[in-house]
Amino acid sequence: MNFVYITGTGSGIGKALAERLLDTGKYKVIGISRHQRIEHPHYLHIALDLSKPRLFKKFRFEHISKAAKIVLVNNAATLGEVKHVGRVKPHSIVAGYHLNLVAPAFLSNEFLRSYRNHEAQKLIINISSGAAFAAIESWSVYCSSKAGLEMFSAVLEEELKMDGVSDTRVFSVSPGVVDTPMQARIREADPAEFHLLDQFKKYKEEGLLADPADVAARLENIIEFPGEYPSRTIRLDVDGRS
Ligand SMILES: NC(=O)c1ccc[n+]([C@@H]2O[C@H](COP(=O)([O-])OP(=O)(O)OC[C@H]3O[C@@H](n4cnc5c(N)ncnc54)[C@H](OP(=O)(O)O)[C@@H]3O)[C@@H](O)[C@H]2O)c1
Repeated sequence: MNFVYITGTGSGIGKALAERLLDTGKYKVIGISRHQRIEHPHYLHIALDLSKPRLFKKFRFEHISKAAKIVLVNNAATLGEVKHVGRVKPHSIVAGYHLNLVAPAFLSNEFLRSYRNHEAQKLIINISSGAAFAAIESWSVYCSSKAGLEMFSAVLEEELKMDGVSDTRVFSVSPGVVDTPMQARIREADPAEFHLLDQFKKYKEEGLLADPADVAARLENIIEFPGEYPSRTIRLDVDGRS
């Protein structure tokens, strides 16, 4: 059996990925998010608010005696309040960085601490965003936390190389624009705070948003055949193998 931990299985890409992996019958999926929306004999849900460090710092990975592959997908994230700096509520800034950056760093550290000596192949997949590389109005916490996660993944890759670790890979995957509740939230932004609003509305109207199920299929391929992906960074909206 393969074991896959996925954060953010309550909706969107994380939920679609969990369902896709469960459908194959080859994976036990452990979902970590606030809401349980999946029922399956091979699905275990851990209800946890990853924006609250006093809660997530108690999280520990379970003992796994035998597995071919153990995977952590850091997927849960929030766009936060779509407002200019100076008008964002303080708690939204703190919660956004905790969920988007601190929790993935904490979980990656715990994952390696728990499974470093396990014989299984280990993968950490951090879900990134084009926003990590672009300064987008009113997305200050989102852009900067995703940029931080990119650098976290880059440092981890470097360390694995330096330590000669060959059974562990880290990937940083940008899924493209995907039809999930996060995109619906973008379309609800105040036009005075977000001048790209029409562009994002058009993505939906013109059917340009990717289906989460298709993104899940691409992520499953990375999990199944990591050797096909030589680069840490993967942009699913380009060619998927860059
Ligand atoms: N959609 C896009 O166009 C797009 C583009 C680029 C990157 N991404 C990235 O893709 C990933 C998935 O996003 P999505 O589009 O699928 O959005 P989504 O549908 O809003 O999913 C967000 C997920 O995060 C979980 N979550 C939210 N707050 C949480 C909290 N406090 N604690 C624990 N879990 C929490 C949610 O589950 P619960 O509600 O159950 O907690 C949900 O499963 C994110 O990393 C996002 O940045 C998305």
